[in-house]
Amino acid sequence: MSLGILNTYSEFLPLSEKTPRISLGEGGTPLVQSERLAKSLGIPNLFFKLEGCNPTGSFKDRGMVMAVANAIENNSRQLICASTGNTSAAAAAYGAHCGIPTVVLVPKGNVATGKVAQAIAYGAKILSINGNFDKALELAQILAVDLKMTLVNSINPYRIEGQKTASFEICERLGSAPDYLCIPVGNAGNITAYWRGFKEWKEAEFISSTPKMFGFQAEGAAPIVLGHPVKEPQTIASAIKIGNPASWTTALEACVESNGLIDSVSDEEILSAYKSLARMEGIFCEPASAASVAGMMKAKRNNLINPDASIVCVLTGTGLKDPDLASQIADRPLQEVEATTEALSIALQSIN
Ligand code: F0G
Repeated sequence: MSLGILNTYSEFLPLSEKTPRISLGEGGTPLVQSERLAKSLGIPNLFFKLEGCNPTGSFKDRGMVMAVANAIENNSRQLICASTGNTSAAAAAYGAHCGIPTVVLVPKGNVATGKVAQAIAYGAKILSINGNFDKALELAQILAVDLKMTLVNSINPYRIEGQKTASFEICERLGSAPDYLCIPVGNAGNITAYWRGFKEWKEAEFISSTPKMFGFQAEGAAPIVLGHPVKEPQTIASAIKIGNPASWTTALEACVESNGLIDSVSDEEILSAYKSLARMEGIFCEPASAASVAGMMKAKRNNLINPDASIVCVLTGTGLKDPDLASQIADRPLQEVEATTEALSIALQSIN
């Protein structure tokens, strides 16, 4: 059972005596060792950090619990965020948990069904805007000031503080830092948070080295790789469909300081990794999450990864968030069969 990150890592977080130690049980997520994918790629020490096992199904809960606890400490009356879906689900859940109304701005038509369902269920005030995530974030920042709401996007420094705890868990589980940390990059808060976490764990002398940070954007939404903002980002991985990341500078710092890289992967590579994770490992993540594995595979092909190294790929959200995409990659249509053993036997023979 997870006590939540505020209780588990209190010494490493910006908490005061007045900060409420709220929790929905976030953190303490599994680090699963790869079986079949590791064998097929010839990299035995491959691990997946299953952040989809957090209470709202993504890593955002780690940052949100910290940001909302701080908002309560400061008597905030309303939360606001822009989101490609997961931030809004987490904000709405922690807002509901603490009885604070939550406003979410989402880019119209670009949020996976499961994430919208969550924001609805948790009772958020959802506004679907005619614009992309970057525009939504711009508006959320202005509204937060004008209407005195607490902005809970990762520009809020408490978000990054909470999210860094995933690095602590990885090191505790492995007994050391991995050699490589592969992670999807959207608004670039999470790569910033992980790097901070590894550095702090080393400063505390729990580990003696830090990993190379390998961040991956989607090819059609790869501003950091291209070196300039992308006006109309495009990718099947809607969670990372972002053209002007807020934490651009700190993501680059993570890459440079760790001797890592930030590269891009195509939608085809993302989908292929998404399928392989589900079918070879039994791990169902969302497409944006699979960018970490697609990127790792690309880096391996380009001989940028030593095969004996330990590698952790962060799987940021659960596949159940985006059921429509899962249906699209079905090998065959869902088959209806008469409820008899004969009919079932015949039907099974036709499936191989
Ligand atoms: N993976 C998932 C599943 C995400 O939801 C996000 C970001 C990322 C990766 C990228 O993380 O932005 O810290 O670089 N989702 C945000 C949202 C933008 O609104 O939910 P990042």
